[in-house]
Amino acid sequence: MSKNFYITTPIYYPSAKPHMGHAYSSIVADFFARIMKIQGFNVFFLTGTDEHGQKIQRAAEKKGMDPLSFCNEISKTFRNLSKTLNLSNTDFIRTTEPRHAKSVTNLWKILENKDEIYLSKYSGWYSVSDEAFYSEDEISISNGTKNAKISGSPVEWVEEESYFFRLSKWQEPLLKFYLDNPKFILPESRKNEVISFVKGGLKDLSVSRKSFSWGIKVPSNNAHVIYVWLDALTNYISALNYPNENHQLYKEFWPATMHLIGKDILRFHAVYWPAFLLAADISPPMRIYSHGWILSGEEKMSKSKGNILDPIEIIKKYGLDPLRYYLLKEVSFGNDGNISKEKLESCINSDLANNYGNLCQRVISFIEKNLNSLIPEKDVFHSDDLKVLNIYKDNYNKLTKDIDNQEINSYVNFIIDQLFSANKYFNDQEPWKKKDNIKRLNTIIYVSLELIRKISILLYPIIPESSLKVLNIFNISKDKINLNSIVDNDYLNSKSKINKINILFNKIEKND
Ligand code: MSP
Repeated sequence: MSKNFYITTPIYYPSAKPHMGHAYSSIVADFFARIMKIQGFNVFFLTGTDEHGQKIQRAAEKKGMDPLSFCNEISKTFRNLSKTLNLSNTDFIRTTEPRHAKSVTNLWKILENKDEIYLSKYSGWYSVSDEAFYSEDEISISNGTKNAKISGSPVEWVEEESYFFRLSKWQEPLLKFYLDNPKFILPESRKNEVISFVKGGLKDLSVSRKSFSWGIKVPSNNAHVIYVWLDALTNYISALNYPNENHQLYKEFWPATMHLIGKDILRFHAVYWPAFLLAADISPPMRIYSHGWILSGEEKMSKSKGNILDPIEIIKKYGLDPLRYYLLKEVSFGNDGNISKEKLESCINSDLANNYGNLCQRVISFIEKNLNSLIPEKDVFHSDDLKVLNIYKDNYNKLTKDIDNQEINSYVNFIIDQLFSANKYFNDQEPWKKKDNIKRLNTIIYVSLELIRKISILLYPIIPESSLKVLNIFNISKDKINLNSIVDNDYLNSKSKINKINILFNKIEKND
């Protein structure tokens, strides 16, 4: 298996400020980037902003700004959000950068030279909000307005000269590609959706617009701008220096291991993107994982619905790690999930403060009071010790399999079970009653510290900042974290001093 891992988030439209849905895509991608990194993978993690198209042009006009100044401003808020979310991204791409334009123009030329693109006329429905073309049967009428059934966004009639990509020609090759690569689209339910869409017949796709100018120009005909989705999808290779296929980054990281996206943009990623790439003789990515929506009540959060939850406000009130933990634990990955203040508070109180925080505090303060802050020397392990310690070794393969199959919830549940069992172990062993049997007392404390170390490593991709605070008591820094070390039962050096730790999570009082 290759030791390179390339993960991407969707690139976000800077037509509005970032919201919880954006934060969710980014946090999940960061989870995968970090967990692969601590398995020794060479990780490239890309995020960025999607800045061309009619939607952005209109948003800028509304503000009385030129599109680039408008994008410069909002793109910055997304870049800042990456920092606020503590993302470990390697790069942040903007589609208004010259490196990207070069890549898109090159891809276009290849497609045109291969006769995959031809000039004709488009007449049909277009949703500016989705930046998508819809056929008559994908439209419904409600309250006198025509909307796209799939997203509910308003559509408008467009009639203009346009270049078309021969998508229809790729129907059979795509179906074969899905068959040959059964894990290309996950989860399974989404794969079936895509396959039936493609089986239903593909029409050639309009890939240029003439009625506005905010985009990358068609190289052979400057009256047209390249369709924003063809432009945007190419970001995944422009960040690797495509068209320079000999560049180290391109050689190491393409095809991408996984594009993580929301379910609303599945068709673009699972149908159009591999078709463009196959047509240009470029390998498609290895996996498209499409997650669900974060709902506010029963509805998707969106600017037009006015029900946006601001991640920055939540982070200010509760802290980042609790939000990361909540989203990764409470949302069943792949499905829609609700965000509620009550559940977030209960995660903080039960799992983080009571379960993890307390375990660390109790064991550490015991050592400070009774063992001069030194990691004790262990004696032979009893069967009670081995039972709690070996579970990590016994489940290691299952854990890495969960990660490879994006089974986030199963991974988190394993950690929660181990937190309960570590707390139970400490309670049941009652080290405070073993002062006349110092060898046993030392062993119990050594085992408890090993459990804290193992659990903190598993928690690192979820709550990196808090986990690092705990690992710091053993002088384990970010670069020294290795997932495989959870199988060791005697990793810690006896006699070395443990560092101090402050309270990890404050409990939320009911009337806060
Ligand atoms: N610019 C395109 C993506 C181009 S990728 C080559 C786009 N941008 S977006 O800003 O509208 O959305 C980006 C991502 O945020 C999508 O994956 C979308 O699913 C996700 N979310 C937006 N709202 C969401 C929720 N309420 N919940 C979860 N994610 C949702 O589409």
